[in-house]
Amino acid sequence: APLAAPDISKCGTNTLSGFKPGESTPTVGDCCPPDSSQIMDFKFPTNQAFKVRPAAHLLSPKYISKFNEAIKRMKELPESDPRNFLQQAHIHCAYCNGAYTQSSSGFPDIEIQIHNSWLFFPFHRWYLYFYERILGSLIDDPTFALPFWNWDTPAGTKFFNDPKSALFDTKRNQAHLKGVVDLGYNGKDTDATDIEKVKNNLAIMYRQMVTNVTDPTAFFGGEYRAGKEPISGGGSMEQSPHTPVHRWVGDPRETNGENLGNFYSAGRDTLFYCHHSNVDRMWSLWKMLGGKHKDITDPDWLNTSFVFYDENKNLVRVYVKDCLLTNQLGYDYQRVDVPWLNSKP
Ligand code: C2O
Repeated sequence: APLAAPDISKCGTNTLSGFKPGESTPTVGDCCPPDSSQIMDFKFPTNQAFKVRPAAHLLSPKYISKFNEAIKRMKELPESDPRNFLQQAHIHCAYCNGAYTQSSSGFPDIEIQIHNSWLFFPFHRWYLYFYERILGSLIDDPTFALPFWNWDTPAGTKFFNDPKSALFDTKRNQAHLKGVVDLGYNGKDTDATDIEKVKNNLAIMYRQMVTNVTDPTAFFGGEYRAGKEPISGGGSMEQSPHTPVHRWVGDPRETNGENLGNFYSAGRDTLFYCHHSNVDRMWSLWKMLGGKHKDITDPDWLNTSFVFYDENKNLVRVYVKDCLLTNQLGYDYQRVDVPWLNSKP
């Protein structure tokens, strides 16, 4: 059976688990959302403005200030408001650190963990979808679209590193703020030159998007159904570059690689949403490659559900099957060069 959306009234204590394999320490924490007795089923909005998510490194100053303003307003909302910045970051913690169980699927002793399985892409797509709608509504701009951190192109580094900006986060690896990101980062810096890094990154992209992913399971990750213990194996893109990029940005001065380098804190850095915008873009690009690059057709995947708060503070239940086409959700990505497509080793 498909995994059913968690009963948020039963949200419990989270544990600390990181992107680093095997890293898990119990801790007391609270990342539960405000409760709501009413759940609405998702409906595609009618007459929605179409959104084009832009590449972060190509943003105009005007767009950056719009983004900045939206995040600032999100941070200024009362902490009890489900649209508040920290509340939104808590969504990631709740779905990834054991705060939710599979009680609504009849397995109260098994936790929900949306990473390392075929739920990785759809969960984050829906998460960003509502995040973006909240930002747009806070600045009264229905066309507002989340920028994507274009780490798959050599020119694409963008950290929003102005300390005065709402997009800034102090908990980032200071040594990595400039220069070329390492898409294969495993916690250790390499001696590679920038040119070698760029070449290596393009090869990683080609391998993870083309060579290693001739079927949907390899791309999306392993099956994860109700009653199953989490972590059946992440898909190619989730494993790399997704996780290395998290760890690349996470601050080594912090105990657990906060913010981007740990599940519970990742959503506290605005960069998370730009990072995942690009991860989501990879899903679209992968399907454009044609052939066997198709969505999973297993009904348990398609009928998996999650709940999120929308821009009107309504708790909405969504299904994986409704997020497969970004056009239907009202957005697409700015077309930019895809240099790794020509980087067959
Ligand atoms: Cu939910 Cu990039 O992790």
